[in-house]
Amino acid sequence: MNRNIKPLVAMALLLSAACSGAAKKTPAPTPAAHLTSNAATAALANGRSIFLTGRDVNGVQITAQHPPLSQSCAACHRPNGAGGKHFADGAVSADLHYSALVRGQKRPYTLALLERAISTGIDNMGKPLDPVMPRWKMSQRDLHDVAAYVLTQLK
Ligand code: HEC
Repeated sequence: MNRNIKPLVAMALLLSAACSGAAKKTPAPTPAAHLTSNAATAALANGRSIFLTGRDVNGVQITAQHPPLSQSCAACHRPNGAGGKHFADGAVSADLHYSALVRGQKRPYTLALLERAISTGIDNMGKPLDPVMPRWKMSQRDLHDVAAYVLTQLK
């Protein structure tokens, strides 16, 4: 073999070895990642059920500190979350779209701030919401799931 070609052949061999090594390292979807995305899908399905019907996927009805005027979020905030319903005390149901809760806010709602608003009636600025907005009592899981649904699905 020509003396000048030898190093080239060696380089080519090295490169192909490196490439196949890199290909092997490409992470295949692990069982854990698979579970995570299934869990996220299940969480959003549960959140959607609570928002639209007031019942979680197991049929458990959400309750509130005081008997709520309506049983589901959608009944007051409308199924698409646009809100705008007027109540006797002058309250107007809030727009729950991302544009209103996050983009339009000086202190944007996060998942934690939404969970707080839904369960304690304290808004993102630390102020109490009108009492027409129920102070919901639900499991940690249901609270998380409905907040995640509001934050990510109401565009
Ligand atoms: C009986 C009617 C009613 C129901 C049912 C209801 N809400 Fe509300 N909600 C309101 C009203 C009215 C406001 C506005 C309160 C105010 O202006 O102080 C509000 C405000 C909010 C806010 C605060 C928004 C902001 O701009 O600060 C969030 C978040 C919210 N509701 C989420 C929910 C979720 C989630 C559910 C279901 C679990 C729900 N609401 C069910 C009437 C309702």
